Amino acid sequence: MKIAVVGTGYVGLVTGTCFAETGNKVICVDIDKAKVDKLSSGEITIYEPGLEKLFLRNQKEGRLSFTQSLSDAIVDAEIIFLALPTPPGADGAADLKYILGVADDLGKLLKPTDYKVIIDKSTVPVGTANKVKEAILNSGTNAIATAFDVVSNPEFLREGVAVDDFMKPDRVVIGTESDKAKKILNDLYAPFVRQGNPLIFMDEKSAELTKYAANAFLAVKISFMNEIAQMCECLGADVDMVRKGIGSDERIGKRFLFPGIGYGGSCFPKDVQALAMSADEVGYDFKILDAVMDVNAKQKVHLIPKIKAFFGGDIEGKHFALWGLSFKPNTDDVREAPAFYIIDALIAEGATVSAFDPEGMANTKLNYEDKINFATNQYEALVNADALIIATEWNEFRTPDFDKISATLKTKTIFDGRNLFEIGQMEKLGFHYQSIGRKVVKG
Ligand SMILES: NC(=O)c1ccc[n+]([C@@H]2O[C@H](COP(=O)([O-])OP(=O)(O)OC[C@H]3O[C@@H](n4cnc5c(N)ncnc54)[C@H](O)[C@@H]3O)[C@@H](O)[C@H]2O)c1
Repeated sequence: MKIAVVGTGYVGLVTGTCFAETGNKVICVDIDKAKVDKLSSGEITIYEPGLEKLFLRNQKEGRLSFTQSLSDAIVDAEIIFLALPTPPGADGAADLKYILGVADDLGKLLKPTDYKVIIDKSTVPVGTANKVKEAILNSGTNAIATAFDVVSNPEFLREGVAVDDFMKPDRVVIGTESDKAKKILNDLYAPFVRQGNPLIFMDEKSAELTKYAANAFLAVKISFMNEIAQMCECLGADVDMVRKGIGSDERIGKRFLFPGIGYGGSCFPKDVQALAMSADEVGYDFKILDAVMDVNAKQKVHLIPKIKAFFGGDIEGKHFALWGLSFKPNTDDVREAPAFYIIDALIAEGATVSAFDPEGMANTKLNYEDKINFATNQYEALVNADALIIATEWNEFRTPDFDKISATLKTKTIFDGRNLFEIGQMEKLGFHYQSIGRKVVKG
């Protein structure tokens, strides 16, 4: 099949590459010239494990190419994916300007005789498929309603394991009532659901809401566990034990029960907010979402009062090592990263920071180049630091050289926002160690 993917970011590049991998001919289009130039010359633009190999192979085989021209990308394509940004607007609702702008452009390019399926892969509020359809028809030129269908096909991939998630999805949700579009999408996704995971067909609105419901539910689960961790700290219980105790109940499940310093990234924060805004718009008081946003905002800086208290209430002039910048491991994505909230809070208190992240440094420099020091490795970050703060659970931080940490830090003190180390081990090593929802180890 011939496919165009509009928007070549984290979702678009993975989508385009994975569809090329199953033999389709894919053209990805982006307005960012630098991005298109890089990709066209065989340079990958994001860090995503396993993606580069597929990207290079499919580009070499001529199944995957890149352009800045929407018209070139769609001229032969029967399927057009929209993988465009849907950032929060000023009021917190999803801003549809990218999606509707492209819809307007498409309306001018579509030909009455040349059927195409236009697929929203972006996370968009309920009713967007209809708005895209109207924008295409209202663009005032060629498009007629029988020449295209607009389908909602939300994406559930997780950065860090995006290729696996895309190639072997738990499910594929497809919102359309068009039999023609159903048949095309059924064929397109057949190689990805061979193991029997379902293609779930539904109406457009339900598909759009499914994506928000999934992300909001996961945000609730994380925030609930973060509140349980707070209770553990107040009551002297151990959140690891509570987590194991409830996670073995099949109705609850083991995943997404790890407490930490809040959720971040380009999806959960904006999607929870956008769903809350959608609820407001229809006059529904969605109480849980307000609570989740409140809990998460506090959780991101939960370590700060602990750090201040340890240093006698004042951290002006103190210097901190920070391990982890990306919003989660195995990605270079730093959008809404909890680490940034910690950096901002430390700087506001007059402290300085030396940070290290395996993949998130370049993106962090875009915002913090002059504000913090960037170390070349995790141990260099510790030099002259009064304490170590851990913000992202990269595997390479899990079993560090503790002798080196002891020898380099000014005081053997770790504030761990991701509960990477065992309490007993920290006691044995003589660190002062504070984590989330667990006993404070007083070194
Ligand atoms: N990142 C994720 O993990 C993830 C997962 C599931 C769903 N989503 C959703 O998918 C959508 C895209 O997310 P993302 O993380 O890939 O965003 P992104 O910012 O990484 O990529 C978007 C791309 O679109 C390009 N673009 C903007 N306007 C354009 C235009 N007019 N024509 C062509 N290209 C244009 C940008 O240059 C950018 O490269 C969002 O709605 C997001 O909520 C993201």
